[in-house]
Amino acid sequence: MRHFLTLKDYSKEEILDIIELSIKIKKETKSKIFKQYMPMQTLGMIFEKSSTRTRVSFETGIYQLGGVGLFLSSNDIQLGRGEPISDTSRVISRMVDMIMIRNDSQKELEEFASYSKVPIINGLTDKFHPVQLMADYLTIVENNLQNNLKVAYIGDGNNMTHSWLMLASKLGFDLSIATPKGYEVDNDILKQALEFAKVSGATITTSYNPKEAIRNATVVTTDTWISMGQEDEKEKRIKDFNGFIVDEELMNKADKKAIFLHCLPAYRDFEVSSEIFEKHSEVIFSEAENRLHVQKGIMVWLDKQID
Ligand code: CP
Ligand code: NVA
Repeated sequence: MRHFLTLKDYSKEEILDIIELSIKIKKETKSKIFKQYMPMQTLGMIFEKSSTRTRVSFETGIYQLGGVGLFLSSNDIQLGRGEPISDTSRVISRMVDMIMIRNDSQKELEEFASYSKVPIINGLTDKFHPVQLMADYLTIVENNLQNNLKVAYIGDGNNMTHSWLMLASKLGFDLSIATPKGYEVDNDILKQALEFAKVSGATITTSYNPKEAIRNATVVTTDTWISMGQEDEKEKRIKDFNGFIVDEELMNKADKKAIFLHCLPAYRDFEVSSEIFEKHSEVIFSEAENRLHVQKGIMVWLDKQID
């Protein structure tokens, strides 16, 4: 049995295998063919934080695969009142077939997984957002940008940036990250990525210079400056991120055919200008839709790994 907690645990071949499976399932879905890959299976979906895309895509996805999604807000289950993770995991995993969790702690997610009888999927933690990166990569492939790929990430060194580090270092593409001082990526995650990059041939650079990072990029991406749980830091962050907006002037330094990706929700005229967002909205909303397709691929793939 496998979990999907971080791309750190996945090889290049496995990542590409899941992408290929997702493309196949997406084609079937677009032709209104809903193969029952997971009949009668229940996906438990534990949310400690808000969500639009993750909830709708997982719930719709498991339904289209023949199963059912169970939305479990941590406010409504005993976990929110202090029932231990170990007990919650041992109980829920005896009743459902797969569990998706969105919480504030990768450590707690891993603890939950260590007690679980069924596969656990990371639906975002403080450290990683791997299902989003799979959707982003599917979008890159659909735009035929996977060869000589150069991604520029401009913004906060957060769960999205860490996931880009894992994807790039596993698949072997170039990634340039520019953050303001004080908002760098986690050093241990960066070190791991640099180790993986030695094997895959990825070039990974970090700097404080968005203009340098974006040069010749074929994919430009960013994320909110204020992640969930950081609302108290809003004013300070807005000041500290001055100069990190992805606007026309910055985007002009990327490759002429570069696409712009955003995991959403997007805050216009903070991390991205309204003009750039609207100009690239078709790709951005395909990226959001790809959450549905890629997560179906991930669920079917994980289900196949169970002995
Ligand atoms: N991108 C993403 O995970 O969106 P939600 O927070 O709406 O799920
Ligand atoms: N970095 C953001 C991603 C939202 C999908 C957050 O953690 O809130």
